[in-house]
Amino acid sequence: MKKSVRKAVIAGNWKMNKNRAEAKNLIEELKPLVADAGCDVIICVPYTNLETALELTKGTNIKVGAENCHWAKSGAFTGEISAEMLTEMGVEYVIIGHSERRQYFGETDATVNKRVRAALDAGLKVILCVGELLEQRELGITEEICAMQTKVALGGVTEQELKNIIIAYEPVWAIGTGKTATSDQADEVNGYIRSVVAKLYGDAAAEAMTIQYGGSMNAKNAEELLSKEHVDGGLIGGASLKAPDFAAIVSAASK
Ligand code: 13P
Repeated sequence: MKKSVRKAVIAGNWKMNKNRAEAKNLIEELKPLVADAGCDVIICVPYTNLETALELTKGTNIKVGAENCHWAKSGAFTGEISAEMLTEMGVEYVIIGHSERRQYFGETDATVNKRVRAALDAGLKVILCVGELLEQRELGITEEICAMQTKVALGGVTEQELKNIIIAYEPVWAIGTGKTATSDQADEVNGYIRSVVAKLYGDAAAEAMTIQYGGSMNAKNAEELLSKEHVDGGLIGGASLKAPDFAAIVSAASK
């Protein structure tokens, strides 16, 4: 399967931004701008905006995701949200293993795996984030890091379940820094991650998998990044907070 037959997926990761009124405005502004998208469009929003997002996107082509979930079904985990709580609301996607979770909240490859398992069991689709730190790139271990994160996160995931996973390659040094990976760097690592998936699940499963790039993707550089064979979409932080910018990326992915 070639890129031309893989459906592009553009997902916004709002992170800890937008109160309810701002979320409403952003979604209302976005709806007409992406109505004719030729790619899948997802917005991953803070828990407090999920209900608003689900309500306002009903009957549209915009799908809604959360930014994390816990691995237990319920229990004494103050401050956490279970995968079932999300599916009960009607949430379809969840981001797991974002580098900000790994950096600031002690997330490890093992907890990422537990969250992936729980999300799949609950019927959620997963956007699994992997990516190296600047020091790791400089040491020349980008491939080792991405392979390790991918393999551990996918532990116990069947080939059938893999269809509900998107991988987002997000080099940590490119996140929120304005320093985008070059399109060749993104293509190279995305292609490498695809080869790791191929070793685990076979060529057909790997070729069918959507692998996004994330890290300072914006309205200006999206088209070049998305033109690459292994870049099947984007996970967008800052630029997803402005409707015209996010819509421009969606339209670049629709070409
Ligand atoms: P920026 O697009 O703001 O660099 O963030 C990328 C990201 O972390 C998406 O998950």
